[in-house]
Amino acid sequence: MAKYKIAWLPGDGIGKEVLEAAKIVLDRIALDAEYIHGDIGWDFWCKEGDAFPQRTIDLLKNVNAAMFGAITSKPVKEAEKELIPSLQGKGLIYRSPIVRMRQLFDLYNCLRPCKAYPGNPINFKEGIDLVMFRENTEDLYAGVEFAPVPAEVRDVLSKVSKPFAPFKDLPSEDYAISCKINTRKGSERIVRAAFDFARKFNRKKVTVIHKANVVRATDGLFLEMARKVAKDFPEIKMDDANIDAMTMWILKNPFNYDVLVAPNLYGDIISDLCAQLIGGLGFGCSGNIGTKLAVFEPTHGSAPKYAGQYKCNPIATILAVKMMLDWLGEADKGTRLEKAVAAVIREGKVRTYDMGGSNKTLEMAEEIAKKL
Ligand code: IPM
Ligand code: MG
Repeated sequence: MAKYKIAWLPGDGIGKEVLEAAKIVLDRIALDAEYIHGDIGWDFWCKEGDAFPQRTIDLLKNVNAAMFGAITSKPVKEAEKELIPSLQGKGLIYRSPIVRMRQLFDLYNCLRPCKAYPGNPINFKEGIDLVMFRENTEDLYAGVEFAPVPAEVRDVLSKVSKPFAPFKDLPSEDYAISCKINTRKGSERIVRAAFDFARKFNRKKVTVIHKANVVRATDGLFLEMARKVAKDFPEIKMDDANIDAMTMWILKNPFNYDVLVAPNLYGDIISDLCAQLIGGLGFGCSGNIGTKLAVFEPTHGSAPKYAGQYKCNPIATILAVKMMLDWLGEADKGTRLEKAVAAVIREGKVRTYDMGGSNKTLEMAEEIAKKL
């Protein structure tokens, strides 16, 4: 029996292609693992009305880790039209499977390292090495949303006395509500994950991203918990900044930052920004980490317009494989893989289109595999 069971979830669009690339390096590095395919993605939404079927949920209960490609998603109304005719009109609502997966398995820590590998022609600046910790289960992603707004909710709101409440006299269908829900527990554990990482890897500073000057209740709580956690780590500096200012300052001087931590939506935004600093989404890797399960994926989406062309850069996914190896306790293999990626980037003989080259997805993976 293999040492590890890994769920293999290609999804759709370029998700399938980048996972094919990931398999090439995993085979070469000879991880003692069994890879078990899981159905997930747009095809299953169209055919079954569920992009994340129960059988895949059950699979994830019995594996050590998972590799996830990407999934196409569309706004609710458009998604409904893609269902097979017998499922239309049944009130099925498309929900992003990855968001559901993060919540269902309590994968609370979205870890997104952003390192500029030397010699990458599309690095914003050489030497950038940021690590983002994004809260991954709550905040505006809580999924508590109302459109139209039901009577009970209108009732509660009518009791709130606010000088500015333009929605009060509107009909239910003329406004919508998405709740931003942040808990002490959720805020504390992601900040703690960031500080633990900083301590373990000798990082100097953790920056907490928020908008507590305006969004006082939720972001105020996040910041309060961050300050509390920081006291347990006196050797690590903590600072904090508003999300809007952060987008500017990170661009202005990325070297002022080290480890970043943020609630879910701000973390989503900042992690794309950080990915661009190190060459774009072709290099942004991501771990969704819980206490029992971790799911690794590229930060990018399914890029439907490139699907089937095998032209996208698989490095983001291959770096996600590195993260998985580290998480499984196979750090030697993880380090070997990262060195191989770094060597291929530095040599510059094989480059995908985003890097100004014309090599294909699998050629890049083969080149990395050759160095292992
Ligand atoms: C990400 C993505 C997802 C998110 C989408 C695909 C739902 O943008 O992983 O950053 O918003 O979390
Ligand atoms: Mg995102």
